[in-house]
Amino acid sequence: MARSAKSKALPDVAKLTKPQAKVEHMRLALELEGHDKRYYQEDAPSISDAEYDALRQRFNAIEKRFPEFVTSESPSQKIGAAPSGRFRKVRHSLPMLSLDNAFAEQDVLDFVGRIERFLKLPDNKIDFSAEPKIDGLSMSLRYEGGELVTAATRGDGAEGEDVTANIRTLEDVPQTLKGRNIPDICEVRGEVYMTKKAFLALNERQKAAGDTIFANPRNSAAGSLRQKDPTITASRPLGFFAYAWGEMSAMPEATQTGMIHWFERCGFKTNPLTKLCHSTDELIAFHRKIEEQRSHLDYDIDGVVYKVDRIDWQERLGFVSRTPRWGIAHKFPAERAMTVLRDIEIQVGRTGSFTPVGKLEPVGVGGVIVQNVTLHNEDYIRGVGNKGEELREGRDIRIGDTVVIQRAGDVIPQVVDVVIDKRPKGAKEYHFPKKCPCPLHTDVVREETATGEEGSRARCTGEFACPFQKIEHLKLFVSRRAFDIDGLGEKQLQYFVDEGWVKDPADIFTLQKRNNKLKLEEIEGYGETSVRNLFGAIESRRNIALERFIYALGMRHVGETTALALARGYGSWDAFHEASLKVAKGDEEAIAEMDALDQIGDTVIQSVAAYFGESHNKDIVERLTREVTIIDAEKPKKNSAISGKTVVFSGSLEKMTRDEAKANAERLGAKAASSVSKKTDYLIAGPGAGSKLADAKKHGVTVLTEDEWLKLIGG
Ligand code: IVH
Repeated sequence: MARSAKSKALPDVAKLTKPQAKVEHMRLALELEGHDKRYYQEDAPSISDAEYDALRQRFNAIEKRFPEFVTSESPSQKIGAAPSGRFRKVRHSLPMLSLDNAFAEQDVLDFVGRIERFLKLPDNKIDFSAEPKIDGLSMSLRYEGGELVTAATRGDGAEGEDVTANIRTLEDVPQTLKGRNIPDICEVRGEVYMTKKAFLALNERQKAAGDTIFANPRNSAAGSLRQKDPTITASRPLGFFAYAWGEMSAMPEATQTGMIHWFERCGFKTNPLTKLCHSTDELIAFHRKIEEQRSHLDYDIDGVVYKVDRIDWQERLGFVSRTPRWGIAHKFPAERAMTVLRDIEIQVGRTGSFTPVGKLEPVGVGGVIVQNVTLHNEDYIRGVGNKGEELREGRDIRIGDTVVIQRAGDVIPQVVDVVIDKRPKGAKEYHFPKKCPCPLHTDVVREETATGEEGSRARCTGEFACPFQKIEHLKLFVSRRAFDIDGLGEKQLQYFVDEGWVKDPADIFTLQKRNNKLKLEEIEGYGETSVRNLFGAIESRRNIALERFIYALGMRHVGETTALALARGYGSWDAFHEASLKVAKGDEEAIAEMDALDQIGDTVIQSVAAYFGESHNKDIVERLTREVTIIDAEKPKKNSAISGKTVVFSGSLEKMTRDEAKANAERLGAKAASSVSKKTDYLIAGPGAGSKLADAKKHGVTVLTEDEWLKLIGG
């Protein structure tokens, strides 16, 4: 393939006007995407690495000057054009090796003895850096000229994966090294980890969304880092401790502890428990002390690491096969115990999802008494993982079973095994409840995954009617995009619910009428003015647009965009309500009619059916519609400039969100599609439009800028 681009002199990025920069950003994005594809997918690059780097540098310089051009589709955010979800491979300039393990104190004595014999020092005075062994993922960060250029996972030690874009989102990783006399090449190595608190919070969110539950903080750190979309990594709080190095064009310090302080001066976090020890006794004492602190630390550690402090001695000691003679990991014993599972309780979360919790005969594990163990979901109890794989060799968990639980690195203890030999005679398979434990005993369904398959999480269908979910639903009901009622925050709603003043949304509209009894102005934190304002806010919302009303009902999978599609599709509340009741009864015609609406598919239809099939929800909706007036939805215009046309949006828009733009287009009678084909009439391309722009060119589709589009629709 011909080599292109003897690069003609291009104007300095600093001199480009914003519109010029935008055009060039789009052009370069397209060009880089093509080169990435040829390089990674076709193994047939058409330009040299140096030419490619020059293009990338110019592209990066434009994004640095105009950060608003960066989108998740921008090549700068993508990790190569890696096929089948894999990351580009990076060869480590120096291998990333691992440490030998010591378990008993004798192993540590042997380790020190070996070093003494090797070095043959006259006084055997050897200092060690003693550090916690962080249970995360090791990472190598390469800085050139003080700038972060590559971040790579350990991989097999020789080759890791390029996760630079993701690592750039970590606060603990400086893009530029601080300080003077930074060596030209510095490879800083250390551990990426997630705090226990962040891990628990993430699992809660994952649970609520029906996504993968991570077993421990290390897995969740790994899962968060190996994301194709760096914005996902950015949303996950990952930390980094620096503790080692790879290639260095010069060594700024002569000792391990000196290097750790140097990392701090460069802008890194290092582990605060690191200690310089002068004898084997001090090493052992360090191990004991850290083990005591282990359960109180907010990050997982699985041992401590001892390293000869003097780097010249480390170099003399060198490596034996794949582990250094100068360092060792002194591990903590696994935190396992055996106990009896007394009961299984179902906890209902604020989104209605069920978590089975194992109630244990209390048992000490690693210095902590454990009484509860998470059993995750129905499949987990049956011995089936979330990809259908066997857990515990398929052994199910029954009440009365003797179970092996483990806390090794895990915050929430896990059941790692069931001792079948100890299973009491007659122990029955556990049957997951079919009804919610709430007083309403509403039906339980298994959630669907994003791909429409049956998921492993069960949830209550009671929505507003389920007392466990009430607050979450009420919060959504009053939120800005739903009823938008000022002055009703979570605290107030909780108070009103606890007092029994608000049982369902309609009660919000009768608060004023009942106030001579309730006397809100006498509640702490309320006064006459705030109560008057609250009533004013509630009154002003009695008239509500259909799409907001549908959204406020809080049906699963019915977000704003879907609510809008339903509102446009049916036009009036009566039409939508009647259709939904029919859908709930399984009326095929009504289902087909709903299915024919743009953007509505099986998941939404099932959710509407579940909601309107629940008699408590029907009552709640009926009471509510007596309190408010629902304004019909605007029908799509038939004779606008774009009616009947198919449009596609790509790249970032500056004057509105993509959803807003799509909604506008639909309101004016156009069809907003998600991919470009020969049927497309217009592609509205913002910065970072990427492959859709290429498709548009291929199919001869008219490409408009955002401004040209707005002009066309008269916006
Ligand atoms: S030093 C030559 N220091 O433990 C190896 N490693 O088996 C140099 N680790 O892969 C590694 N905390 O992921 C070192 N303070 C620490 C560490 C540490 C955790 C991990 C690291 C490495 C593994 C060694």
